Amino acid sequence: MFWCKVTIVSALLGVSWCAEDWTFPPGFKFGTATSAYQVEGAWNISDKGESIWDRYAHAVPTRIKDGSNGDVACDSYHLWQTDIEKLVELGVHYYRFSISWPRLLPSGFPNIISEDGVRYYNNLIDGLLEKGIEPFVTLYHYDLPQSIQDLGGWTNPLVADWFADYANVAYSLFGDRVKMWLTINEPLMACDLSFNTAKQAPGIVSPDHGAYLCNKHILLAHAKAYRVYDNVYRAEYNGEVSIANLLIWYDPVTAADAELAELAVQYNTGRYSHAIYSKEGGWPPAIEEIMAENSRKKGYKRPNFPSFTQDEIELIKGTYDFYGLNYYMSFTLRAAAEGETVGDYPLIGIPDLNAVHGYRKEWPTTNVTGYTLNPEGIRNLMDWLKKNYGDMKIVITENGYPNLGGLDDRDRIEFYQGLFKQLILAIKEDGINLTHYTAWALMDNFEWSSGYTTKYGLYEVDFSDPQRTRTARASTKYYKDVIKSLRINV
Ligand code: NOJ
Repeated sequence: MFWCKVTIVSALLGVSWCAEDWTFPPGFKFGTATSAYQVEGAWNISDKGESIWDRYAHAVPTRIKDGSNGDVACDSYHLWQTDIEKLVELGVHYYRFSISWPRLLPSGFPNIISEDGVRYYNNLIDGLLEKGIEPFVTLYHYDLPQSIQDLGGWTNPLVADWFADYANVAYSLFGDRVKMWLTINEPLMACDLSFNTAKQAPGIVSPDHGAYLCNKHILLAHAKAYRVYDNVYRAEYNGEVSIANLLIWYDPVTAADAELAELAVQYNTGRYSHAIYSKEGGWPPAIEEIMAENSRKKGYKRPNFPSFTQDEIELIKGTYDFYGLNYYMSFTLRAAAEGETVGDYPLIGIPDLNAVHGYRKEWPTTNVTGYTLNPEGIRNLMDWLKKNYGDMKIVITENGYPNLGGLDDRDRIEFYQGLFKQLILAIKEDGINLTHYTAWALMDNFEWSSGYTTKYGLYEVDFSDPQRTRTARASTKYYKDVIKSLRINV
């Protein structure tokens, strides 16, 4: 027997829905994603410039779990037509991929535009559109030109203009056909993980300065690139531009940690969102205060957490057409005990808040990354966004499940099923304006410091085969059925 439920929201809207009706609304879009360094290979073909990931993986191979790199990866540079076949097989509405900045602009600057780079991305975009698949393009997915790193990378304030110049070239070349753009993917990982642990390129440890300069400059870079679209291209091309943030849900260990857990969400989500999405702009006030206090305690003569000028606040505020949300993990949070060491942000703890991460044993884990997947976390986060920044269109720009491989990936299907339930509840019960879901990833790929050991793919890739054969996993059929029917069977 199915039961029917009328919630307050649905009653107010004059609709009710039933438990058997686990469906996504008509028009909901499903896609899948990859990024340039993780799949393209052809790292030095033609006039392509070196990226910080080329340098990072080549210089010290032990930085990568299996000593590998993205030199060939899935060889999508040559096999993009096969990728499109797989996307057609899946029936996705769109494909999210990234442009490699140094492939398009070998020097990092628009003085040279690579013909080969332009040809490659034109082929991919046109090939997708021929099959009715929308291209959804990320401009920056961690592969900064090494030439720009040599000038300080994200810690140099000029990088914001250099990024906007690159974005301008990309819009001018592809904006007639690409209507969905993301400026930057997971700045949290590019700034915080990178400068706290050096587990990401460029391999520099600078938690007190690098991470925060990067935080500020990446927001400015995003905003400038958004403004270029707005001022030069929007009227003609009428697309949408935003940034993709990695959000983490923090659950208090006990009621006494509730305030700390809220601060942690402000720290994680707010440092990359408040400036863009809040009415007042700038840093989340509570975090700005804590950072100023931490700076004094550490004895710095000048605050190590940068401030914004009023002009910068105005420049960044409102630079979005939707909220791009990447979700992978939740943590429990508690205040550190007297003398307890707090591990590195963002995966172990939050030293700035003197807070320690943990897990709930009822949350599902994977046997690979160790972190828990807590499907409810994504619903809590969307709720949090609505409460803090108002009702806006939300696009899940990434979410996925890692394992060690195998074609019969029932664990991944179970994960997607649990996640989709939460999305449907968010839409139907919480009135969240969620329009897109992007599964990470189309196929196994170079998983950064885990190399090829961690598998996220709907398709398995045989990395020992020069053809890099892509084989459908059980989850491809599951995803394909959900896309086609817009329904999950609960
Ligand atoms: C998010 C990143 O954008 C992507 O590059 C990475 O592979 C996945 N998370 C999985 O870790």
